[in-house]
Amino acid sequence: MNYSIALMPGDGIGPEVTAEAVRMLAAVGKRFGHSFEYREALVGGAAIDATGDALPEESLNIAKQSDSILFGAVGGPKWDDPRARTRPEAGLLALRRGMGLFANLRPVKVVPELLGASPIKSAVINGVDLIVVRELTGGLYFAEPKKRWDDSQGRKAVDTLKYTEKEIRRVLQVGFDLARGRRGRLASVDKANVLASSRLWREVSQEMAEENPDVSVSHILVDACAMMLIQRPAEFDVIVTENMFGDILTDEASVLAGSMGMLPSASLGTKKIRGGLYGMYEPIHGSAPDIAGQGIANPLAAISSAAMMLRLSFGLNNEADAVEAAVDATLAAGYRTADVAGVGVADSNTQVVNTTEMADAVIERIENPERARVPRPL
Ligand code: IPM
Ligand code: MG
Repeated sequence: MNYSIALMPGDGIGPEVTAEAVRMLAAVGKRFGHSFEYREALVGGAAIDATGDALPEESLNIAKQSDSILFGAVGGPKWDDPRARTRPEAGLLALRRGMGLFANLRPVKVVPELLGASPIKSAVINGVDLIVVRELTGGLYFAEPKKRWDDSQGRKAVDTLKYTEKEIRRVLQVGFDLARGRRGRLASVDKANVLASSRLWREVSQEMAEENPDVSVSHILVDACAMMLIQRPAEFDVIVTENMFGDILTDEASVLAGSMGMLPSASLGTKKIRGGLYGMYEPIHGSAPDIAGQGIANPLAAISSAAMMLRLSFGLNNEADAVEAAVDATLAAGYRTADVAGVGVADSNTQVVNTTEMADAVIERIENPERARVPRPL
């Protein structure tokens, strides 16, 4: 089969890690008989420099004409002026909104080999396998009014936390469906003791809990959830939450996995393509300007994001399994980029590699499946 992919490398380490995901996909294509065609599109700071706009119309058009988006990262100190007309992040937000990608899936799975990479005790994070479903096109990020103005009392600014029942229901539905295919537990996270929008969220989630009796639902306040993620993270299965709560909780949850450099994400809406749902796939780490250009970034988040694309958008489950097994086997063989190299230093089996070497090790294990361990499901 032939798949068309909008390639949006963006800024910082974005181009370095997406290039490795593309190389990895070529190996998958070769082994399984698919071809992946790319149309590269500008986004973020790179797009601002070239066109003045963080998501030029042409980029959005390329996204619309493709089967999915492979995204790197956006942002960097060069574009950080708070008074600038636009920011790189605006490109990412416009893409999420423009393509209707309301459900952001962020799986956090602790790999046994990286137990020591997290600052949290191994006994606490052992066995963590959770997925956060973050609402991505509403809430504080997008609702109006959203503005800044001056009056006689000084400078003022407002953002709005607004949700409709429909927005809440559709993202929770994604969570229920995921939970059903996993351990059957869903945590709906809100701030219903303070926020009206959260009280609606809780009302809707309670109704949906009755409609989905096969899923066991708990309602957790976001501040308590932040604490539980550190105290007993292994108890979580699926977490569903508001846009900004999800932004904050997923950075926190990433610490469980040792490094943000490990974690993939998928953003989905309702648009169907052959094999699954149209999606945008991006590592959850940012553009990491401090290490950009050095060739030392961890490509595994980008590679695992591409694996999610194979599974969720193209329906290529065996192919996705093969990539994930290759990633596992690569880590088991001791390959570590600098971000996870603190782990197992006492273990002479580990070796520190750069971006390309890490991707090479994964590719070698896709090409030679006998060298990869058993697949792990999402
Ligand atoms: C994320 C990022 C983005 C967000 C930024 C880059 C706009 O932090 O994907 O979590 O806040 O959503
Ligand atoms: Mg974030």
